[in-house]
Amino acid sequence: MKSFQKELNRRRTFGIISHPDAGKTTLTEKLLLFGGAIQEAGAVKSNKIKKGATSDFMEIERQRGISVATSVLGFEYKDIKINILDTPGHKDFAEDTFRTLTAVDSVIVVIDVAKGVEEQTEKLVEVCRMRNIPMIVFINKMDREGKDAFELLDEIEQKLNLTVTPLSYPIGMGYDFKGIYNIWEKNVNLFTGDPRKDIEDTIEISDLTSSELDDLIGDEAANELREELELAQGVYPEFDKDAYLRGQLQPVFFGSALNNFGVRELLDCFISIAPTPRPKESEERIVKPEEDKFTGFVFKIHANMDPRHRDRLAFVKIVSGTFERNKPYLHVRNDKKLKFASPNAFFAEKKEIVDVSYPGDIVGLHDTGNFKIGDTLTEGEALNYRGIPSFSPEHFRYINNADPMKSKQLAKGIDQLMDEGVAQLFTLELNGRKIIGTVGALQFEVIQYRLEHEYGAKCTYENLNVHKATWIEAEDEKSEEFKDFKRLKSKFLAKDKKGQLVFLADSQFSLQMTRDKYPSIKFHFTSEF
Ligand code: G4P
Repeated sequence: MKSFQKELNRRRTFGIISHPDAGKTTLTEKLLLFGGAIQEAGAVKSNKIKKGATSDFMEIERQRGISVATSVLGFEYKDIKINILDTPGHKDFAEDTFRTLTAVDSVIVVIDVAKGVEEQTEKLVEVCRMRNIPMIVFINKMDREGKDAFELLDEIEQKLNLTVTPLSYPIGMGYDFKGIYNIWEKNVNLFTGDPRKDIEDTIEISDLTSSELDDLIGDEAANELREELELAQGVYPEFDKDAYLRGQLQPVFFGSALNNFGVRELLDCFISIAPTPRPKESEERIVKPEEDKFTGFVFKIHANMDPRHRDRLAFVKIVSGTFERNKPYLHVRNDKKLKFASPNAFFAEKKEIVDVSYPGDIVGLHDTGNFKIGDTLTEGEALNYRGIPSFSPEHFRYINNADPMKSKQLAKGIDQLMDEGVAQLFTLELNGRKIIGTVGALQFEVIQYRLEHEYGAKCTYENLNVHKATWIEAEDEKSEEFKDFKRLKSKFLAKDKKGQLVFLADSQFSLQMTRDKYPSIKFHFTSEF
């Protein structure tokens, strides 16, 4: 048991979130380089959707291929086992990212020094903030001209609603970027622009007043740094690890991922402050990672890229206990025992079959259609993890069968793609017509393409004027008010895949009117309430 605790304590599972182009891929790659997990730059492929590079379909397939490879990147650094969970930056795949965030224990937020806080950053950080996920901020591209450090810290506090404290501080920027003062370790790291530069070049300066600092960076820069650090000390709270772990304080680092500068500082601080696997709430109780019985949940399903083998890979985050190969586990939703002969563990450049995995780890399980996103596995306890809601989609279309001979294939394809979480299916109460709702417009192309290539089915779409889908909860299903609502709004009512009632509002205005008219009915924007 001692070694179980040791394995648990040395795990850090986190995600990197950013607006596309801020430098997430570059930073990931540098982190892996430190772990010795990859040998050269360029080894981590960007899973960005590059518009216009090739046809969109090819691009989607390319992206899917890469996203299997980079879904989970595991590596070791200073005897710490680090798992990076990949989060797609493209906004059309935001739902994937939200789901992945249910499996991380902390995050690193990457911000471009010139662009500051961008739209995707705001959305993703909000999700993390609501869940009190500990966050470290990395301000990237200091080798370029950008915003002043104070201005940026201010912007982060205002726009992201965070309380920050810098743990490193830039000396100049862009053309004049001289390096960083590491507040956390009390030393100076000088910028030479040479990415191969390593740790030994860090110069210890425990006393900022020492003339050594002037010799290193020049009088002017040294004085400016002293002044700014003093100011920062007055404005920002002192770093407090517990506050960080509670999600109430976010330390900030500055650097340049491309130049591998400031990344080592970030990583060293990360392994010493970032949380070990955290307890997780289930519908029944809170489960602690150190419990000896295994529990875990599916947060992502990836279809096999080879259409001849329609098996899928279900990604399971281990919450408690150890997961063992060939041991029967309870699939709670199906009330069925399942054994896994070849669970995969993920490393930077490969996946491998593993015998035992620990809390914080992700295992990839081959699946022939048993799993849905959000499913729980246990050693026998009827436990249901929650917190993977469906979000109210923003794009809606009728889906029609374009090949009557293939209706079975179409139904199966739609069913499986929905289980994977590609989109949501709604069935109109009035006439049984099927509607696909998605968070991004790109998903319609993905669905059409994959139905054809993986299931041999063809579909067409028809436009539908829906502004938002909201999940309905009635205080009293027998009340006159609810009956009236169901009768008058029958045209706009549908069921989701789980059979939950959904109201499809055709405009913001009609949604508001309906809410006002039926005060005892709750309209939810996510499927979990
Ligand atoms: P993302 O995953 O967050 O979308 O960003 P990614 O790492 O792909 O980086 C986006 C662009 O920013 C890349 O350039 C990358 O080289 C550049 N970049 C990352 N970190 C830094 C940095 O510290 N300084 C500077 N100056 N640039 C940085 P690109 O030209 O779009 O792509 P590529 O052709 O270089 O791959």
